[in-house]
Parts: sequence; C-alpha cells; structure tokens
Amino acid sequence: EKGGYEHFMLKEMYEQPKAVMDTFSPRIKGSQIEIEELGMTEEEIRKLRKIMIVACGSASHVGHTSKYILEGLARLPVEVDMASEFRYRNPILDEQTLVVVISQSGETADTLAALRQAKKMGARVLGIVNVVGSSIAREADNVMYTWAGPEIAVATTKAYSAQLTAMYLLAMKFGKARGLLREDELQEMLGSLKALPAQIEMILSNREKIQKFANRYLAARDIFFIGRGIDHAISMEGSLKLKEISYIHSEAYAAGELKHGTISLVEEGTLVAAVLTQKELYKKMISNMEEVRTRGAFVMAVTVEGNTEVEKAADYVIYIPETNKYFTNSLAIIPLQLFAYYIAVGRGCDVDKPRNLAKSVTVE
Ligand code: F6R
Repeated sequence: EKGGYEHFMLKEMYEQPKAVMDTFSPRIKGSQIEIEELGMTEEEIRKLRKIMIVACGSASHVGHTSKYILEGLARLPVEVDMASEFRYRNPILDEQTLVVVISQSGETADTLAALRQAKKMGARVLGIVNVVGSSIAREADNVMYTWAGPEIAVATTKAYSAQLTAMYLLAMKFGKARGLLREDELQEMLGSLKALPAQIEMILSNREKIQKFANRYLAARDIFFIGRGIDHAISMEGSLKLKEISYIHSEAYAAGELKHGTISLVEEGTLVAAVLTQKELYKKMISNMEEVRTRGAFVMAVTVEGNTEVEKAADYVIYIPETNKYFTNSLAIIPLQLFAYYIAVGRGCDVDKPRNLAKSVTVE
C-alpha cells in the first residue's frame, strides 16, 4: 500500500506533483479560471469587503501564505486566524465577509465550530476541503475540493500543497473579477502554475543531497527558521514539519523580529534555515543571516536559482527553480519537507505516526 516507499509520508511527498495538477486542471477552462463550486458571481466577488481565513496547524499556514497573495492580487483585507482562537474572540464579520475555512480532514473540531459560528454571524463560508463529504464539506455554503487523494501520514504534505494550489486559483479569480489582475498577467501566472508539478518533481529528485545534509543535524537541539512575508509563512510550515516528526525543537521567526529576543538562543553551531524567495526582500534577509552568523549560527538557505549573492551569508544553499513570486511556497516547502523527513528517519522516529498526534483532531 506504500507503493514501494518506506513511509506514507515519502509516498505522499512524491504524490505532490499530481495533487497540485489535479487541483488546478479541472478549474482551468481554455485560458480562464472557472470555479463553479464557488457559487459566487463576479458581482458578488466585487462586493466583498473582507476575507477571513480560519484553520488549524498546517492549513493555517496555507492561510498565512494566502493572505499575501489575496491582498496582493485582489486588494482585499485578509485576516488569518487559528480556529481555536477565532471562536473565542468575538470576531468582526458580516454579510460582506467571506470566511474561508481550510481543512484536509474536514473534521477538525475547532475548524468546524468556527464555520458554524461564522455562518451564524451572517458570513458566507467557503470550505477548502480534501475529504469528500466530510462535516466541513457538508456544512460550508460552498466547497472547493483539493484533489490530493487520501492522506495517511499524520504530517500533511500533499494536502498542504493542494490547499496552496486552491488558494492560488481563488486569489487569481478574485484579482480578475475585481479588475486588478490584467489578462496578460493572468496568462503569465497560469503558465507558472502549470509548470509547478514538473518543478516539484525536479526538487524531489534531488532528495539524496538533502538527506546527506540532514544527517549532519540529527543531534541538533534547536533549529530556527527565518523568513519575511511569504517566506515567513513558508518557515512556519517548515518548522512545524520538522518538530512534529523529529521531536527537535524548532521555531519559525519573522527574520526582522529575531533581534527582539529570540536571537539570544543562537549559539555556536545552531542551525538557522533562512528562506528567501521574495526578491525585494533578499537584501534585508541577507543582513538577518549575517546577524545570526556572527553569533555562531550555521546558516542553511533556501532560495531561488540565480540568487548567488546569498552565498556570502550562507554555509549551505538549496536552490529552487524560478516561478511567480506568489507561488514560491509550493517549491520552497519541498526541500523543507524532505529535510524534516530525513532528520526524523535518521533519528529513528515513527515518521508516519508521531507521538501524541492524530491525523484528525476531533477534540476542541
Ligand atoms: C501538520 C498537520 C496538522 C493539520 C491540522 C489541521 O502536519 O497535519 O497541523 O494541518 O491538524 O487538520 P485539518 O487540515 O484536517 O483540519
């Protein structure tokens, strides 16, 4: 059932090109994005005043990434909240708010409760769900399925990638409907979207290099992930993947925020993983990398091909292929997933079933 792979997680990482493709293909008709199941006219999309994204864990990291994309392309204010917080804070929303709940299982108790609360308050709720017919799929006003197929490993990989893809489609659709994304820009983005599966495949095929590198850090005590903007959101997911399956403590930090406290934890040899996919932030990131390096950190960078300047501030560099600036998460997360996986394997952890965790969290 693992199809020759040692773990479900590895198998599912390899299913990501297909999960991404299966999520965008049925929604690209000719050269346009059509999301029938959205159930909203362009007029209705134009009337929206706010988007709230509510989810837990990795799905909330998709939310953080989506905030930058939706705000960038559709100029709609986006709030992202963990479902367990949203429920207890008396959120401000109304009929002109679209609440997007993201869930692989469609059964996460807090996310389901948040959905019910949002509906009660009059908001329209769109579910981004992987399991067909699940509670969230049934109760949301509209459902956009991610077509990742069944995910067995507790740590999500392919469902996460499919969720990102669904959000890219949504953001482009909204940008177009609101008259902010030009036709030629859309076509260029669709070209980049269609190239993602092969690019993911390419990164996966380099897994041995990452395994070798991971094997040097099996005894690490703390690992820090830093990034800015979308790269901060990518860092959050990279950090969660690592800690949940390898039990090595890790934290994701907005790179500019480190010096306000957390940098005191950096010691000789501490591994800091820096994510740099946003060109306009390269310079700022490089100075943050230098900050930790002068305090003894070993800096691993994940960046886009061509950004060789990063080499002056990094000890180890992983290059990902170029893509649209809004889609970089789909590529940058792959080496981070592989890194987490190989550290966990090297430490002899139960990769598919980490301690204390369940695939679907049905308690509040
Ligand atoms: C981490 C992970 C969890 C889930 C979270 C939400 O690898 O899988 O953080 O993302 O429990 O689960 P769903 O998406 O089923 O609502």
